[in-house]
Amino acid sequence: MMFQPKKAKKKKKKFVKMGRKLVTVANSHSFVSEQFRTIRTNITFSMPDKAIKTILVTSATPGEGKSTNAANLGVVFAQEGKRIVIVDADLRKPTMHYTFLLQNARGLSNLLTRQFTISEAVNSTDIPNLFVLTSGPIPPNPAELLSSNVMGAVIEELKKEFDIIIFDAPPLLSVTDAQILSNKCDGTLLIVNSGVVENESVKKAKSSLEASKANILGVVLNNYKIPHNQYYDQYY
Ligand SMILES: Nc1ncnc2c1ncn2[C@@H]1O[C@H](COP(=O)(O)OP(=O)(O)O)[C@@H](O)[C@H]1O
Ligand SMILES: [Mg+2]
Repeated sequence: MMFQPKKAKKKKKKFVKMGRKLVTVANSHSFVSEQFRTIRTNITFSMPDKAIKTILVTSATPGEGKSTNAANLGVVFAQEGKRIVIVDADLRKPTMHYTFLLQNARGLSNLLTRQFTISEAVNSTDIPNLFVLTSGPIPPNPAELLSSNVMGAVIEELKKEFDIIIFDAPPLLSVTDAQILSNKCDGTLLIVNSGVVENESVKKAKSSLEASKANILGVVLNNYKIPHNQYYDQYY
């Protein structure tokens, strides 16, 4: 173990610099964090024949919790000791630089136009083993860049440096970006804000993933209220 926590006089929470509070960092023993670890386990065991190295996180519509889930999954995989990079591939509405309080002058869009190398663009975070590649400046042609051969090459380069690459993507029903990416990733997680998004939209999202031959790892029900038990008031 490289990480040696200092002996604290009293039980004191380690301060991690975050722009948006992540439950897996702020409260790693909570029910919600436990759910994220369950998702991690399920992903790890979902394909016995093939290691899942690249994971796409998407949803049917905006605001369903893609970025929140991508960030928390990154944290729980990193807590397992794996070297993780979260890539903000939402080149239309990027948010990872806010979550991890990072500059966004260098990111994925710069890599796709070969202005910087991976080592120049990837950021470390306050969480051991967790790295973030922000979106970079918003380009005029996200779908074109994401479908380019350079994107394939960037993914291959990232695979050499990291154990798992988590891509945060735009919603499926608005633009083609997530469909394009799903075809390039080993697995796709569909985030569904249960109770808010219409069933029909989820079906359309699933069909679009199937059309692009995505490997759907599973569906994460975000905001799901477990009725009539002690966890009713938990937010997940
Ligand atoms: N389970 C949840 N409970 C409460 N708030 C949530 C939950 N999931 C996401 N949010 C909040 O909803 C908003 C949208 O989430 P976000 O992850 O940015 O969605 P997306 O990336 O799909 O657009 C954010 O403010 C986020 O903090
Ligand atoms: Mg988002």
